[in-house]
Amino acid sequence: MRPLTAHIDLDALRHNYRQACRCAPEARAMAVLKANAYGHGSTACAHALADQAPAMAVACLEEGRALRDSGIACPLVLLEGFFEPCELDEIIAGHYWSVLHTHWQVDAMLEALERWPQHRVTVLVKCDSGMHRLGFAPEDVAEVCQRLTAHPGIAQTLLMTHFATADTPNSPLLTAQLATINTLRQQLDLPGCFANSPATLSVPEAHHDWVRPGVMLYGVNPLEPQHPRHGEIDQALEPVMTLESRIIAVRELKAGEPIGYGARHVTRQPTRVGVVACGYGDGYDRHAREGTPVLVDGQRVPIAGRVSMDMLTVDITALPEAGIGSRVTLWGRDVSGAVLNVSEVALWCDTIAYTLLTGILPRVPRRYHHGGTHEGLPNEAAPNGGVVGTPG
Ligand SMILES: Cc1ncc(COP(=O)(O)O)c(C=O)c1O
Repeated sequence: MRPLTAHIDLDALRHNYRQACRCAPEARAMAVLKANAYGHGSTACAHALADQAPAMAVACLEEGRALRDSGIACPLVLLEGFFEPCELDEIIAGHYWSVLHTHWQVDAMLEALERWPQHRVTVLVKCDSGMHRLGFAPEDVAEVCQRLTAHPGIAQTLLMTHFATADTPNSPLLTAQLATINTLRQQLDLPGCFANSPATLSVPEAHHDWVRPGVMLYGVNPLEPQHPRHGEIDQALEPVMTLESRIIAVRELKAGEPIGYGARHVTRQPTRVGVVACGYGDGYDRHAREGTPVLVDGQRVPIAGRVSMDMLTVDITALPEAGIGSRVTLWGRDVSGAVLNVSEVALWCDTIAYTLLTGILPRVPRRYHHGGTHEGLPNEAAPNGGVVGTPG
C-alpha cells in the first residue's frame, strides 16, 4: 500500500478543546468542524468531542447533515446560514441553529416557521462589526432582533459577530469591533457568540456566552508570532494531524546534478536524495520552497527540488542511516516525539496552516488514534478498523 497517511490523534483534539474551555471558563464552546473538520474528518472529530461540546458549528446544511446522519445530536450551527429557502424545513425539523446575516433570510425563516407551528428554533443574528464580510450593519441589528424575539417560533436569538484581527496584539480594528458588538449586546441584552480561536485564547472581553474555536482545536496556534501569549499557547496545544509517509527510493548524485521538474535544485556537492511518497496530488503544497523542512526518522532535513504530483524529494546526505522505508513526517508529531509544526511548513509555502490542513485530499487515508504517538496504537475510533478514505 502507498505509505502516505494522515494520522489523527483524537485525544489531542479533546485536549485542545479543553484548552479552549479553560481559556473561556464562563462561556460554552461550540466546536467548529466545518470544511471536514479542517481536513481532519468531521464525523470522527465530532464523535470524539460529543461528550464535551454542547454544540458544534459547520459551514452549511450539507456539512451538518453528514454529522446528523452519523448520530450527532447536539445543536449544529450553520455558520453561513442557508442559501435557499428550500433548506428551511430540514433546518427547522433537524434542530439546526442557523446564522441569519441578511434580510431575505429573516423573512424566509419567519415564513417557514408558519409551516412548523410546533417547532421553536434558535437563530444567530450576525452583525458586521467591522470585518465587512457577512452580517447586518450595526444600526440594523436591533430591528432584526426585535422582529425575531417577538416571534413565537423563535426560542432563542444569539448575537454573533466575527473578528478580522483577533490574532494581532493591540489591533485597533479589534478594539473597534469589540466596542461595537459589546455595546449592541448590552443594549439588546442577548447572549453573545463572538470569539474565534485567537479571541478565545486572548480576548476575554469577547467571550460572553459562547465561543467558537476552530483552528486551535486542531493544534494550530492562531496567535501571531509577536503576540505576547504566542509561546505559552504553543506549549498548551497538541498537534492533531500527523502527515506521514516513507522514503520509496534513494538517488546518489554527484555535484552539479539537477533534481526534479524544472531542475530547480542543482546539487552543489555529492548528495543523497530521498524520494518521498507525497505530492501536490495529495494536497501537499506545490509552493513549498527549497529548504522546507520534513522529518526523516525524526531528524529535520530540507526539501530539494520541486514538489511533484505524487512525490517530493529531500536531501538526506546528513542522514547516512536513512534509506528506503525511512519514516517521513511532513508535519505533526513523529513517533520519536519530535514535532514539525504545520504552521512552520505553511510559512515555507507562503500560506497558513488552515490551507495546508484543509487541503489534504480524500486520496490520503485518515487513520484515527487515541493518545500520544501513533505507532502501534489501536485504531478504535473509526468503525472500519481505523482507515477512513473520505471521512464525513
Ligand atoms: C464564522 C466563523 N466562526 C468561527 C470560525 C473559527 O475560526 P478559527 O478557526 O480561527 O478559530 C470561523 C473560521 O473561519 C468562522 O468563519
